[in-house]
Amino acid sequence: MAEPVASGSEELVLAFLAEAGDEFVSGEAISDKLGLSRAAVWKHVNALRGMGYRIDAVPARGYRLVEIPDRLTALELRPLLGTHDLGQVLHCFEEVGSTSDAAKELAEAGAGHGEVVIAERQTAGRGRRGRSWSSPAGKNLYLSAVLRPDLPPQRAPELTLVASVALCQVVREAGVEAGIKWPNDILRGGKKLAGILTELAAEPEAIQWVVLGIGVNLNGRPEDFPEELRAGATSLAVERGQPVPRALFVAALLTRLEEWLDRHAEEGFEPVREAWREHSATLGREVHVLSEGAELDGVAEDIDERGALLVRTGAGLTRVVSGDVRLLRLR
Ligand code: BTN
Repeated sequence: MAEPVASGSEELVLAFLAEAGDEFVSGEAISDKLGLSRAAVWKHVNALRGMGYRIDAVPARGYRLVEIPDRLTALELRPLLGTHDLGQVLHCFEEVGSTSDAAKELAEAGAGHGEVVIAERQTAGRGRRGRSWSSPAGKNLYLSAVLRPDLPPQRAPELTLVASVALCQVVREAGVEAGIKWPNDILRGGKKLAGILTELAAEPEAIQWVVLGIGVNLNGRPEDFPEELRAGATSLAVERGQPVPRALFVAALLTRLEEWLDRHAEEGFEPVREAWREHSATLGREVHVLSEGAELDGVAEDIDERGALLVRTGAGLTRVVSGDVRLLRLR
């Protein structure tokens, strides 16, 4: 059966109801604001109900949006977005190989700063260091954003930490006390909740584009993870004991990410570094680092002014710019 499609007026009615949050909005206010008759407002409310939106209608009080369908399409997301750039152009798919591959193609074809690709399912989801990213349908979040920052390429790693701070904050706001494992894994109780894959194209002096790929285990159950990942992965729903409204999570994530990207552009890396330290699950821990074929054990002491990890070993302080970190015991 074909999916019902919302008209422009339905989107406007929905945006109006979404903006009111838990409050009722009178039919009169909607018809005045949108220049529609009361009968047209009623017709659009019913059309939205037919698409899975739960909208209360109470005489003398008006309409109230109670529940939105658990889908990640522009119809659900657009009314929730208060960003100036991020997600203002959305490319939403039922299925893609990888949202990051789709975003890279868009970037190469000239996509603007802030364009976002989201899919309900990935058939070739990619993780860092050539790993795959488990991407079952309809439960989690697979999102890639095209960024065009005004930065020299050597400062690109800072963006990964910017994204990890925004992501960790939103996870905490959703009720899960998570922390960041350097550079950008979001962990809860040592298990992985979310990951970030940063890819870019650059000239010697300037970045052309960055694709920030973000995967968050939102409503996946343990049985949704491949057997070999179960011990090391978890989801927000498992951790907080109730499902996550995915569209609200996406809107919160894009808002926070934009706030941090703006702050980074205006004030530089220092405030990001401070926030990263506050959200860190790495600093002060004994770590095992695998970096460019070399391995080292030590204590993660800090990140430096470019976001590199500083590890204290028997031989002194080592600066790690890329690699995999395993957390050992707490000191
Ligand atoms: C990692 O921790 O290894 C990074 C995982 C990044 C996964 C996301 S899901 C959306 C985007 N598309 C991909 O193919 N990968 C990233």
